[in-house]
Amino acid sequence: MNELLIKQAKAVLECDNLLSALCNITALLYDELPGLNWLGFYFIQDGELVLGPFQGKVACTKIAVGKGVCGTSFKERKTLLVPDVHKFEGHIACDSASNSELVIPIINNQKCYGVLDIDSPLLNRFKEDDQKLMEEITNLIANKISEYY
Ligand code: SME
Repeated sequence: MNELLIKQAKAVLECDNLLSALCNITALLYDELPGLNWLGFYFIQDGELVLGPFQGKVACTKIAVGKGVCGTSFKERKTLLVPDVHKFEGHIACDSASNSELVIPIINNQKCYGVLDIDSPLLNRFKEDDQKLMEEITNLIANKISEYY
């Protein structure tokens, strides 16, 4: 499953249009990972995180650096695996159905472009192997973005 997903992600990212590639990668991941209610990007723009391509319900369009799980992950440049979002101080509830969350910073060559945010209605949905797999795929995404920015 992991190998196949990585292969599919590589294929989707080969597209010669960045926006199209990012849209398709959200569709692929949202479809293939069970138990999600939201998956998408926030990219840094003029000092704040701005909503990018995503799957799921309408979400907040801007998140300040250092705020919420996304803003904290971006600021600290580290993956945040949150088993219960209600226990994360400052969590921003875009979809009230979310109970757990995985946020991965998109970093290439010391530059952090934004985050990949994955939400689940299940408590404790994300495990260490999910984190590893998503970090590997996020690396591919960061490489792709670095071709453009
Ligand atoms: N929960 C995130 C906000 C983004 S939505 O989940 C799509 C956070 O706390 O940063």
